[in-house]
Amino acid sequence: MEVNPGELVAILGANGAGKSSILQALAGLKRPIEGSIGLQDQYIHELSANEIAKKGLALVPEGRQLFGELSVKDNLLIGAYSRTDNVNEEEELNEIMKRFPRLKDRIDNSAGLLSGGEQQMVAVGRALMAKPNILLLDEPSLGLSPAMIGELYDALASLRDDGVTILLVDQMANLALQVADRAYVLETGQIVKSGTAQELLSDPDLEEAYMGASA
Ligand SMILES: Nc1ncnc2c1ncn2[C@@H]1O[C@H](COP(=O)(O)OP(=O)(O)OP(=O)(O)O)[C@@H](O)[C@H]1O
Ligand SMILES: [Mg+2]
Repeated sequence: MEVNPGELVAILGANGAGKSSILQALAGLKRPIEGSIGLQDQYIHELSANEIAKKGLALVPEGRQLFGELSVKDNLLIGAYSRTDNVNEEEELNEIMKRFPRLKDRIDNSAGLLSGGEQQMVAVGRALMAKPNILLLDEPSLGLSPAMIGELYDALASLRDDGVTILLVDQMANLALQVADRAYVLETGQIVKSGTAQELLSDPDLEEAYMGASA
């Protein structure tokens, strides 16, 4: 599996196919039993999650994992923690507010009081505060209203247009393929198909491959 700079690549697959496991392995939260993981010009599969974050890999985990008692602002600032350059906090926060304008009014609220969609925006914003070389997203649309999903995916598309490299997991294959350049289809931990989003959208087997692991 490969993600080139500036690409938005999707991983598709049924429940239990191994999508989250891959993202967790990439982020150093799970150890691969075999194989290797490279980021830019070096292997990272033996580094700690903390070291991998410092190399510029940011994970937006399934279920968002915000600090509900902390303010939106503090949750966002946590994202800049792994950075070693001098961060101008106000400037960085303004960038995030431009991407997610609805967070502006909520900046001092406890993150736990926000709607699911708003919380997902905070989780993406927190990852962006790290100025990642690659952004990993695990099921960002899960549990959100259609309107919120639309807003979130518009933001992902604009991040991609701005050159941010993204690896996206979403159960909603059609949705992910709307924004992805390419995708891999997983079934019980194996890649069973890959191609451009266009190829997979017009692939009659996709639904079958997609459902395979849960059948
Ligand atoms: N450390 C582990 N040891 C053994 N089995 C594991 C381990 N971690 C995950 N699994 C199993 O591996 C499979 C893949 O899990 P994973 O969470 O990656 O799937 P997923 O594609 O993200 O599914 P979902 O769509 O439900 O989020 C599951 O059957 C899970 O129970
Ligand atoms: Mg998962």
